[in-house]
Amino acid sequence: MVAPLGLIFMIQWMLLFAPVCGGWRCTDLEMPDSPIRNLTLNRRKMEMSWVSSMNFTEYSCSVNAGDGEIKIKVKDTTCMFERNMAPPLHNGANFSVTAVNINTTYSSICTFIPQGMPGTAITNFSCVIYNVSLMNCTWHAGRDAPGDTQYFLYWQNSGEEEERECELYVKDENGRHTGCQFQNVMIKDTTTYFMVNGSSKDSLIRFHDEYIELYTIERLTPPLNVTASCTGYPQGCIIEWQEPLTSHVENKNCFQYEINIQNKNRVKWPHDGSAGSGTRALPLLQPQAPSKSCHILAGS
Ligand SMILES: *[C@@H]1O[C@H](CO)[C@@H](O)[C@H](O)[C@H]1NC(C)=O
Ligand SMILES: *[C@@H]1O[C@H](CO)[C@@H](O)[C@H](O)[C@H]1NC(C)=O
Ligand SMILES: *[C@@H]1O[C@H](CO)[C@@H](O)[C@H](O)[C@H]1NC(C)=O
Ligand SMILES: *[C@@H]1O[C@H](CO)[C@@H](O)[C@H](O)[C@H]1NC(C)=O
Ligand SMILES: *[C@@H]1O[C@H](CO)[C@@H](O)[C@H](O)[C@H]1NC(C)=O
Ligand SMILES: *[C@@H]1O[C@H](CO)[C@@H](O)[C@H](O)[C@H]1NC(C)=O
Ligand SMILES: *[C@@H]1O[C@H](CO)[C@@H](O)[C@H](O)[C@H]1NC(C)=O
Ligand SMILES: *[C@@H]1O[C@H](CO)[C@@H](O)[C@H](O)[C@H]1NC(C)=O
Ligand SMILES: *[C@@H]1O[C@H](CO)[C@@H](O)[C@H](O)[C@H]1NC(C)=O
Repeated sequence: MVAPLGLIFMIQWMLLFAPVCGGWRCTDLEMPDSPIRNLTLNRRKMEMSWVSSMNFTEYSCSVNAGDGEIKIKVKDTTCMFERNMAPPLHNGANFSVTAVNINTTYSSICTFIPQGMPGTAITNFSCVIYNVSLMNCTWHAGRDAPGDTQYFLYWQNSGEEEERECELYVKDENGRHTGCQFQNVMIKDTTTYFMVNGSSKDSLIRFHDEYIELYTIERLTPPLNVTASCTGYPQGCIIEWQEPLTSHVENKNCFQYEINIQNKNRVKWPHDGSAGSGTRALPLLQPQAPSKSCHILAGS
């Protein structure tokens, strides 16, 4: 996610003028008669709580991280934003709680300001799941991160309270963590929260966080048991295969296949003109029948 420039400036401005209070700033300090006080955020649980000196039947909580607002209504003085709807917080966010009685609307607004300059955070975070249950995540060190910066990855599945640190880091030649390897990853329908923070002797390191729906990053294994048998007449081949291994796709008809026919002798591509092997891709829709086979005439 790219932060709007204005937001970055605002955060830098706020850091400049409020270096000590960095992290969490609330307006209710300036509104002494508001009955809603002491709004706090538990970032790990994405849980907000407050105290109220008046009885309200309902409170409305919201979080706004720049791209849309999430609102929930609760009856007591705690609200939790679910992991699969919460926004990432690395560019800061506004949290608010509002209550209404017959006469007035009361609210308390707090701004979460991440510490450290944006350029110290990792960039190009990406993850891929392969071989059914293995996952790799990688990142690049922030361009403004001091040389001694070390990064740490934490992750948490939706619906789980437990936050875990990476167990097997990938390191560069200086021992700096640049990735993480995971085993026994369960895809299901989980949205996973990833957070990479860092430390350095010289400066505060901005964290980066991201939500990823795991099924979107799976790289499927190849189809199993691919066989091709070529008949003499009429000239053609039958290629058969079985669906790839996966931990979570129940409807096998969801797969689409693509066949690459490599023809050693004959294919010449018009644009590169190189001799030798070529590849022809022929996108196929899922066959109607569950037989997973299709008949391909060897073109001449
Ligand atoms: C609210 O926070 C202030 C300052 O942190 C503290 O003194 C006060 O006791 C808190 N009030 C309640 C009701 O928790
Ligand atoms: C809120 O309601 C509870 C019970 O309904 C009552 O005991 C308490 O005094 C009320 N507090 C205020 C501030 O009105
Ligand atoms: C938070 O609120 C302030 C003041 O209204 C606004 O300038 C800022 O853009 C908001 N930040 C986000 C992340 O929405
Ligand atoms: C609403 O305002 C009226 C007059 O200003 C006041 O008498 C009444 O107590 C208020 N009610 C509440 C629930 O604050
Ligand atoms: C990192 O991402 C940026 C844009 O987000 C891109 O311009 C850049 O090429 C990427 N760097 C690498 C090494 O992939
Ligand atoms: C894929 O996983 C299986 C079993 O978990 C393992 O035996 C195999 O070596 C793995 N293959 C690769 C390419 O990692
Ligand atoms: C995952 O990371 C390991 C170790 O760095 C590497 O050997 C492997 O090729 C990676 N796999 C994928 C799919 O990126
Ligand atoms: C990174 O985040 C984890 C989990 O929230 C926390 O325990 C740790 O102290 C943080 N490390 C740094 C360097 O901020
Ligand atoms: C795929 O082939 C292997 C050996 O070639 C065999 O053991 C396995 O049972 C086959 N898989 C299926 C689903 O038929």
